[in-house]
Amino acid sequence: MKKLISASILSSDFGKLNEEIASVEPHVDMIHVDVMDGHFVPNITLGAPVVAKMKCGRPMEVHLMIEHPEKFIEDFAKAISHAHGRKDDCYITVHQEVCHHPGRIAEQIKKAGCRAAISINPETPLATIESVLADFDMVLIMTVHPGFGGQGFIEECLPKIEDLRNRAPKMDIAVDGGINDKTAGLAAKAGANIFVAGSYIFKAENRAKAIDALR
Ligand code: DX5
Ligand code: ZN
Repeated sequence: MKKLISASILSSDFGKLNEEIASVEPHVDMIHVDVMDGHFVPNITLGAPVVAKMKCGRPMEVHLMIEHPEKFIEDFAKAISHAHGRKDDCYITVHQEVCHHPGRIAEQIKKAGCRAAISINPETPLATIESVLADFDMVLIMTVHPGFGGQGFIEECLPKIEDLRNRAPKMDIAVDGGINDKTAGLAAKAGANIFVAGSYIFKAENRAKAIDALR
């Protein structure tokens, strides 16, 4: 499977988001946008109006770390269209831990014109999403406790990636949290094919070089 790199803008300078996006865009495959509500995770970031003002040439992945994601799907889909010019190549990711009806929300995301992804926290077992895997286009395995950039990769998540790869050989499997040139290799070996990296890219002296080392 082709390796894809996604830059998480959480660790970029929010005062000049579009410049920050432009600085990494030529080198990455996707742009990852972390939306946090201060409830599901102990941090607050940004909402759909900010996403709508982004200028994003690459496909976007909007990672919703929020309660009641079903209330905001259409808003984010519209915002993605503004930012990227289209939305059919972009993902909206929701967390299993807050989805009572994952199949229903997958349908809602697709109806809004985006690809659907589901994420699980480090302590959430794979079994919780097994029955709905066919409804989603991507699974995002959290390899840190969500909420903040710059945390250490939790290696205990690796068997979960392996397990998922065995069950779903063709599924896009993304990893998010603590990804750098070393941990990306571990995750790739376990079976991940999409690598989300924030602080490793944005804090690097040479962003292009850092991204290259992830491939
Ligand atoms: C964490 C976010 C990640 C975050 C990763 O809750 O979902 O996308 O930006 O940051 P790093 O790569 O610094 O761990
Ligand atoms: Zn994320």
